[in-house]
Amino acid sequence: MFEASVFRQRRLQLMQSMGSGVALIPTAHEALRNRDSHFPYRFDSYFYYLTGFQEPEAVLLLVADAQPKSILFCRDKDMEREIWDGFRHGPAGAVERFGFDEAYSIAQLDEMASKLLANQPKLYYALGQDQAWDARVTAWLNHLRAQGRSGISAPAEICDVRTLLDEMRLFKSPEELDTMRRAAKISTGAHINAMRATRPGKMEYEIEAELLHEFRRHGSQAPAYSSIVAGGANACVLHYVVNNARLRDGDLLLIDAGCELDGYASDITRTFPVNGKFSGPQKDLYELVLAAQAAAIDKVRPGSHWNQPHEAALEVLVRGFIDFGLCQGTPEAVLESGDYRRFYMHRTGHWLGLDVHDVGEYKHDGGWRQLQPGMTLTVEPGCYVRPADGVPKQFWDIGIRIEDDAVVTATGCEIITAAAPKMIGEIEAVMTC
Ligand code: GLY
Ligand code: MN
Ligand code: MN
Repeated sequence: MFEASVFRQRRLQLMQSMGSGVALIPTAHEALRNRDSHFPYRFDSYFYYLTGFQEPEAVLLLVADAQPKSILFCRDKDMEREIWDGFRHGPAGAVERFGFDEAYSIAQLDEMASKLLANQPKLYYALGQDQAWDARVTAWLNHLRAQGRSGISAPAEICDVRTLLDEMRLFKSPEELDTMRRAAKISTGAHINAMRATRPGKMEYEIEAELLHEFRRHGSQAPAYSSIVAGGANACVLHYVVNNARLRDGDLLLIDAGCELDGYASDITRTFPVNGKFSGPQKDLYELVLAAQAAAIDKVRPGSHWNQPHEAALEVLVRGFIDFGLCQGTPEAVLESGDYRRFYMHRTGHWLGLDVHDVGEYKHDGGWRQLQPGMTLTVEPGCYVRPADGVPKQFWDIGIRIEDDAVVTATGCEIITAAAPKMIGEIEAVMTC
């Protein structure tokens, strides 16, 4: 985790952008999985971005006055609960470790929030993100409104705090990039191990276990999203996560898996033959997707707009679909009609960061956003061929995606997942050793 000064600086930057008013940023709730067992806890990304604080039942309140103040509400120290569930910082410990100006028991939140919101012009809050918090905030505001005759006013404006935070999170700092590179390194190692472990007859979940083992043994806290380990036709199900089929000789295996490290996601897809050797039709489509990815990566640089990598990948894919008899007509006509969507139905990437599909505007003032140094994104073209009349049979049930993570640099981009093999020769070589 970063130094407390990193989080303090982010809080100050946010309060400067607010100018005045109060911001309220709660962390995530704990969620029950079944009966009294919980899902593994994961903090809210906005809250973590501003605090580094990982305990549940915590709220950050920022007061953007002339004397900006950051206040944490968190669980009290509690020896009994700490014996059962583990360490808690408690308010005093949180001030010391995370550099808040003040911290109080979460039990004091309702009483203090009303007071802190009194006579403030604006409340910055992610309205609509969580119903329980919306109800609580509404009660505070109504409580203040009811005191109008005593000269107390509620904030007149509610602004979405995410608008300011999304813009901050879109540009990664050197320490964030360092964490993302380390996450990418763990995930590339996991993909290489998965390639080596794959054999006809194994189950998809056995390969998933290789990935999870590699993530965890290098200190990743969790997968950044549910791993997709999809053999053969399963690769044509874009969000296939059951991972319970047997791998068959002659099929491809598509793995979309990445670890989360200290809150930051990596997101890699590789597709390779279960038996270690690409067949002719598999090679044709694989080389096409690889060429589409190279064309897209070439456009990941300052001066390009967000959609240019996607447009570049599409242009290559559409020409290939026509050459291979998957689509008919001219490239312009296939692009115009959208017929290519039968085989390529998703976009070529997304922002990457604390969330795998990270925050940040894709369009700005009505136009696609320009890429700038410090932005991080995925580049992930694919091709998915389901059996259908008129579709050449040799391509049926082939699903391919190749996905890398890119950092926009001053002159182009850095592919931080490049160590995961993707050239046909490299993959076949890795799979023989
Ligand atoms: N693994 C999620 C995605 O590629 O978008
Ligand atoms: Mn992705
Ligand atoms: Mn992915």
